[in-house]
Amino acid sequence: MIKKCLFPVAGYGTRFLPATKSMPKEMLPIVNKPLIQYGAEEANDAGITDMAFVTGRGKRAIPDHFDFSYELETEISGTGKEKQLEEIRNLVNNCTFTYTRQKQMKGLGHAVLTGETLIGDQPFGVILADDLCLAEGKSVMAQMVELYDQHRCSIVAIQEVPMEETSKYGVISGDALSDDLFRVHDMVEKPDPKDAPSNLAVIGRYILTPDIFDILRNTQPGKGGEIQLTDAIMEQARNGGVMAYKFKGRRFDCGSIDGFVEATNFVYENVYKR
Ligand code: UTP
Repeated sequence: MIKKCLFPVAGYGTRFLPATKSMPKEMLPIVNKPLIQYGAEEANDAGITDMAFVTGRGKRAIPDHFDFSYELETEISGTGKEKQLEEIRNLVNNCTFTYTRQKQMKGLGHAVLTGETLIGDQPFGVILADDLCLAEGKSVMAQMVELYDQHRCSIVAIQEVPMEETSKYGVISGDALSDDLFRVHDMVEKPDPKDAPSNLAVIGRYILTPDIFDILRNTQPGKGGEIQLTDAIMEQARNGGVMAYKFKGRRFDCGSIDGFVEATNFVYENVYKR
């Protein structure tokens, strides 16, 4: 049973400067809802109620968002606007939110290791909120939790990408167990297309078994001088302990301007206007 989800949100979001100068990237809205709320709702759809955040300096808007806003509630109480707070109220009422700070941005692997204190010795989900995942039925994290219940090992979400884009992702190779499930043999962080083992790219959704923390503690800085989560997951894969899952749904790279605009248009047409 997966009870906790970790949200590494300590990055600087430099691609969105100046918007992210004093505001966390994860608070950027897709239409009227911040990215981080989409992420928390996705985790909650998977039955997860413990939301754990690895934050950094300048990220206070995130804990404020997942809190009761007394003045606002009083102000709009009894008006039609209350409805707009319904989803966030449900999250705040049903979930627990915990926070720790990553003091230096030493990479995603380091951020996950920083979250150990919030997670403890149990398997957990990881959501990178700047990858927005939308699914018609069960959320992507809910699909992954179901798989975890069957296989009890680390799971990474993957999607096929054009070969020329492999250098933006971690890329896997593995044995196909079914149309949408692979046992991972190899994982390379941001390979040139000529070195990429496939076009199956890892996106920002993971379920990790807790041995990842010991592995991360011993992981040396890799590509870009950062402690790479990919390198640690590769270590798990060496023992056959990682599956890659081609999820059902759409993913938008909201860490990039193009993906952000695409997501905004999609949500406006397909969610907001309906
Ligand atoms: P990104 O590579 O998107 O980096 O991190 P970034 O800083 O957020 O954005 P840019 O590239 O400067 O525009 C991927 C995810 O890992 C988290 C980020 O918050 C994001 O969710 N992260 C990355 C950390 O929490 N800590 C780190 O040291 C690095």
